[in-house]
Amino acid sequence: MLEELPDRVSIYEVSPRDGLQNEAKPIALEAKKRLVDALIAAKLERIELTSFVSPRWIPQLADAEDLIRAVTPRSDVAFSALCPNATGLERARATGLREIAVFLSASETHNRKNTNKSIARSLSVFGEVVPPALELGMRVRAYVSTVWGCPYEGEVDPRRALEITRQLLDLGCYQVSLGDTIGVGNPLQTQRIVSLFSAEVPLEKLALHLHDTRGTALANALVGLEMGVRDFDASIAGLGGCPYAPGAAGNLATEDLVNMLHGMGVRTGVDLDKLIEAGKVAEDVIGRKLPGKVHQAGAFVRRHG
Ligand code: HMG
Ligand code: MG
Repeated sequence: MLEELPDRVSIYEVSPRDGLQNEAKPIALEAKKRLVDALIAAKLERIELTSFVSPRWIPQLADAEDLIRAVTPRSDVAFSALCPNATGLERARATGLREIAVFLSASETHNRKNTNKSIARSLSVFGEVVPPALELGMRVRAYVSTVWGCPYEGEVDPRRALEITRQLLDLGCYQVSLGDTIGVGNPLQTQRIVSLFSAEVPLEKLALHLHDTRGTALANALVGLEMGVRDFDASIAGLGGCPYAPGAAGNLATEDLVNMLHGMGVRTGVDLDKLIEAGKVAEDVIGRKLPGKVHQAGAFVRRHG
C-alpha cells in the first residue's frame, strides 16, 4: 500500500456552500466574503461559493448573487455554485459565473427530501440545465449524494449510483463527485465503491465528497487516493453538513486533508499555513469552535506542497 502515490491532487473547497448552508444563524455577506478571501489567500484553486437554490429551502444562501458579485473573478481560481434547475441556471448566468454543479441522490427518499423530486425527474431536469449551460460555455460538475448510505433508507446499492453517474457524464458533466453525505462510510466500503466505479468510469471523472460525521473521512480519502482518485472535496475546519440529511455535520476538513497529503509528499498547490489561518477565520465567522484538527494543532510537516 501507498507505494505509488501521485505527485499532485486537486482539492475542491466547499465550505462557503456546504459549510454555511446548514447554519441557522444568518451570516453577513461581509463575513462570507472574509471567509472566501482567506480561502483564496490559501491558494485553493476551486471554490464552491454558494447555491442558486430556493431561498425558502436554504435561507442562509439567499444572498447568492450578492456574494458572487462581491468576489472578483480570478484566472487562478475556478468559482462554482450549486444549481438544481433552469431557474438556478438563469441566476448563475446573470452573475457571469463560469461553473455550476448539479446534484441529486442515489436514494429516492433523500432526493425527494432534498429537491422535491424523484431521481428520474431530477435527471430529466438536468437535461434542461446541463446542455444549455455547456452552450453558454460553462463547466458543469455533478454530485451524487448518499452513495455510502442514506439517513432514511439505510443501505444504498452503489450500482444505482453508478448508473446515475453514467447518465450525468453522458449529459456532459466534466466530473461526478460521490458523496458520503452522512459520513457512514468505512475504508473497505470505499474500496468496493471505487473499485466498482473504476471498472466503468475513468477515475479522473470522479471525485470523493466525504463527510467526517463518524471520523472516517480521512481514512476513506486515503483509500480513494491509493486507488487512483485525484480529486477530493473538503471544507475548511470541517465546517458543514446537509440540511436534509440529519446527522450530516462535518465535512472532511481541508487542512487535515492537505496536512496529510503534504506530509506524504503529495502536492495540492495549497499554502498550508494560510489554510490554517483560514480555519481560524471560519471559526470567527461562525462564532464557535469547529472540528478540523490541524487548524487547532498546527501543521507538523511543511516541507512539501
Ligand atoms: P420546489 O418547491 O419543488 O420548486 O423546489 P418548484 O420548481 O416547484 O418552484 C417553487 C418555487 O421555488 C417557485 O417560486 C420557484 O420560482 C422557486 P414561487 O412561484 O412559489 O414564488 N424556485 C427557485 N427560486 C430560486 N432559485 C431556484 C429556484 N427553483 C425554484 N433555483 C428546489 C425545488 C430544487 C428548488 C428546492 O427543493 C431546493 O431549492 N432545494 C435545495 C436543496 C439544497 O440546496 N440542499 C443542500 C445541497 S445538497 C447537499 O448538501 C449534498 C452535497 O453536499 C453532496 C453530499 O454531501 O453528498 C451536494
Ligand atoms: Mg456535502
